[in-house]
Amino acid sequence: MNSHFPSVLFQRDALGRAIAQGVHVGIDVHLGNNITVYPAVHIGDRTIVMDGAVLGRIPIASKTTTRPVRSTFFDLTIGPNSIIGCNVILYTGSKVGSDVLIGDLTSIREDCVIGNGVVIGRGVMVLYECIIGSFSRIQDQAHLVGNMVIEEHVFIGMGVVTTNDNDIYRSRFGLVAPRLKGPVIRKFAVVGAGVTILPGVEIGEGSMVAAGAVVTQDVPAWTLVAGVPAKHVKNIPDDWRQQIESMHSIEQC
Ligand SMILES: CC(C)(COP(=O)(O)OP(=O)(O)OC[C@H]1O[C@@H](n2cnc3c(N)ncnc32)[C@H](O)[C@@H]1OP(=O)(O)O)[C@@H](O)C(=O)NCCC(=O)NCCS
Repeated sequence: MNSHFPSVLFQRDALGRAIAQGVHVGIDVHLGNNITVYPAVHIGDRTIVMDGAVLGRIPIASKTTTRPVRSTFFDLTIGPNSIIGCNVILYTGSKVGSDVLIGDLTSIREDCVIGNGVVIGRGVMVLYECIIGSFSRIQDQAHLVGNMVIEEHVFIGMGVVTTNDNDIYRSRFGLVAPRLKGPVIRKFAVVGAGVTILPGVEIGEGSMVAAGAVVTQDVPAWTLVAGVPAKHVKNIPDDWRQQIESMHSIEQC
């Protein structure tokens, strides 16, 4: 036994499932083959957990990692009617809403908040303390950096890369303290495939970033930007904005 890893008592079965004592499993939940559920996990009614998923994993630091982590089991809550794909890894301390789909091979680090109805594609990396608002969609292989905020009804295209440390040249050697600040993506925004977003940048409400852009500055609401570095191309037509806002006006009340 390793003294750095808390000891966990699992109940194991013939399908290779290892479920820690005290885990809450709702009614009509499907638990696939070879899944591991660590302590303090709560799985909502009718949720499906596919083969090979790991729920409630703790982060463990090596001697050379820089960000301090707590290797302790906190509550991981998964709402009802959600689908957790094959080989998904959900770290401890996160809250996943209802009717959420998380695609195969996606990892979600500790202390994230995922709203209701969110769709996260295949092989997405969501780092620590991210917030993803309800009904947002994250396409395959996007990388969402720690501390970033995505509001409701946002679309993040395939392979989008986000960043949170502009001082990385010196901070990696401890020459300056890291000033980590993830991007903020306001509601209704669309980020096209392959976009890179630099630290702390705010993508305004209802704006669109064209595929392949590198966003170095805040993007004003309801505008389209494109290119490297991203520049203003045009405004989003008023009638598009009105249609989108009226579709969601009930939610805003
Ligand atoms: C923003 C977007 C919709 C623009 O498409 P569009 O209005 O059809 O643009 P056009 O093809 O009419 O091109 C207009 C001009 O902008 C240029 N352009 C188009 N897309 C561009 C981009 N992503 N970056 C830089 N320039 C671009 C064109 O070359 C053209 O330049 P020109 O007038 O000098 O010839 C498109 O670029 C885009 O990003 N689509 C998103 C695709 C995506 O990621 N979907 C999500 C997952 S499937």
